Amino acid sequence: MCGIVGAVGKAEVSPLLLEGLNRLAYRGYDSAGIATITQNGIDRRRAEGKLQNLVAKMANDPLPGTIGIGHTRWATHGGPTENNAHPHASDKVAVVHNGIIENYQELRDELSKHQVRFESETDTEVIVQLITHYINHGMTPIEASRKTLARLHGAFSLGIIFAGDENLICAARRGTPLAIGHGKDAMYIASDALALAPLTNQICYLSDGDFALLTAHKIEIYDDSGARVERPVRTSSLSADMIGKGEYRHFMLKEIHEQPEVLGDTINALMHPASGEVYLPEMTIDFAKINRLTITACGTAYYAGMVAKYWFEQIAKLPVELDIASEWRYRDVPVETSNAMLVISQSGETLDTLEALRLAKKNGYPSFAIINVPESTMAREADATVFTKAGPEIGVASTKAFTTQLATLAALTLHAAKLRGTITADNLRALTAHLREIPALMAEALRLEKEIKLIATDIHTARDVLYLGRGTMFPMAMEGALKLKEISYIHAEGYAAGEMKHGPIALIDEDVPVILLAPPDALLDKTLANMQEVAARGGKVLLISDSKGCTRGKRNAAWAIEMPACDPFIAPLLYALPIQLLAYHIAVLKGTDVDQPRNLAKAVTVE
Ligand code: AGP
Repeated sequence: MCGIVGAVGKAEVSPLLLEGLNRLAYRGYDSAGIATITQNGIDRRRAEGKLQNLVAKMANDPLPGTIGIGHTRWATHGGPTENNAHPHASDKVAVVHNGIIENYQELRDELSKHQVRFESETDTEVIVQLITHYINHGMTPIEASRKTLARLHGAFSLGIIFAGDENLICAARRGTPLAIGHGKDAMYIASDALALAPLTNQICYLSDGDFALLTAHKIEIYDDSGARVERPVRTSSLSADMIGKGEYRHFMLKEIHEQPEVLGDTINALMHPASGEVYLPEMTIDFAKINRLTITACGTAYYAGMVAKYWFEQIAKLPVELDIASEWRYRDVPVETSNAMLVISQSGETLDTLEALRLAKKNGYPSFAIINVPESTMAREADATVFTKAGPEIGVASTKAFTTQLATLAALTLHAAKLRGTITADNLRALTAHLREIPALMAEALRLEKEIKLIATDIHTARDVLYLGRGTMFPMAMEGALKLKEISYIHAEGYAAGEMKHGPIALIDEDVPVILLAPPDALLDKTLANMQEVAARGGKVLLISDSKGCTRGKRNAAWAIEMPACDPFIAPLLYALPIQLLAYHIAVLKGTDVDQPRNLAKAVTVE
């Protein structure tokens, strides 16, 4: 996902824009650039690779100006080269773009007929050339921009500046978010408020179809009908320190350790302050009236949904249709009138999940979203949304967002069970009480980090790792494998432990560590039996269980992590911590870019 920043005011903007890009770096990128306007026209600096390459270039060749735009690019059309880096510019206009212009080839062909020469392989450059074309044919910059926007198909957000005008940024939003920062004698744009935190906390968000004109002191916003509109300015809660690493080496480690706190915030927000019972006033789905719930998401959010399937079916006796969004949206699933759609997404921008939500709504399904980022597209388009209180998650690998999703899904399960009459009052009280135990148990589990770090030194040289679990620990095995592979680049697979004898056990030898998730649940005996099968074939098992499970299984284990005792209902939230810490410490030993792993982006807003 690309990142956009822009500023117009009295101060030199280059340092502000670089700082903003640095705060957007977590989104994943492979090149970056900045453009400013001075009395000499448009000036640009761009660089391939990490931001420090752009910083170095600008240190040698400073970029003056009190108006400018900046961009971090995650390549979609055209390789990650300096030539393809944004801002793209002509002698008249410079543009930064997040999203995809779907009809760019058609526009490129049309402009080529007018002898327009393109310097890049990107879809973005057609915006520059089209605006330039219209200005060259007598339109004002604003008219040319509006005319161009009307011709673009696709999802995008834009920042546009013009030669000869040191006090105008045009901004547009269609499908990918764009925040507007109201500063002191300055105005800002950014892909999210994180980038503006050090500059202002007075933030408004453009709505889809909005076109905005920003000068140093004011903003005019026009909706897609061309009518002048106002968008509410809110005080953002994102402070500069919320997006620093503090005393941690990586954002991911900081966010792992934030889990006791943010789970506390999330669980408190899910409970009625007086009764202490689960309380979801946002909920619009009447669980007593539906015969099935469809859950769809991507990646780690999908594994949260996979855990929830066990909970909804066992506790609320509600059948769940579960699928990854990129499959569900193309599977032509028969439409059921008594169905409802639940989407799960940290960013609220993952395109596959968003399009699945749109398809479900088109099919008449009531929809509900569990989202971490306020003002995100899914939060605006779902019939109702419960926001996890994870706070900004900067590390590309999802950690605290995942466990806060699980807490929200657990509360949703209890809410559904109560409405469907499938849970006794005593059991409801007991499970709600277990939810409240999570923050303290997580804090206790985090004290195992030193042990886990030692085990990581034994495992980090492996080429293949297997994760095994049963019941709700099967999706946790899948999540553990995803954590490891996405940040350490070690191949890992998650399997249902009962599935080992149907093939995967052929993989077992002393070079393939097996991570066995074995909380004290009804399947513990069978899971420990699977461990014996692996040990009998020379496999080396890391047993993750509580004291009873470790006592029973440790003779077959090469390593053991003794977790705090917990009720099986909340085990997925607690057992997320050791698999996150194991992946983190292995990745650190491998020397990978833990917070921004290669090829990955924090939110995948392309298909
Ligand atoms: C999680 O560690 C991954 N970075 C990735 O699988 C992520 O969960 C997935 O892309 C979904 O993102 P979302 O929650 O923002 O929709």
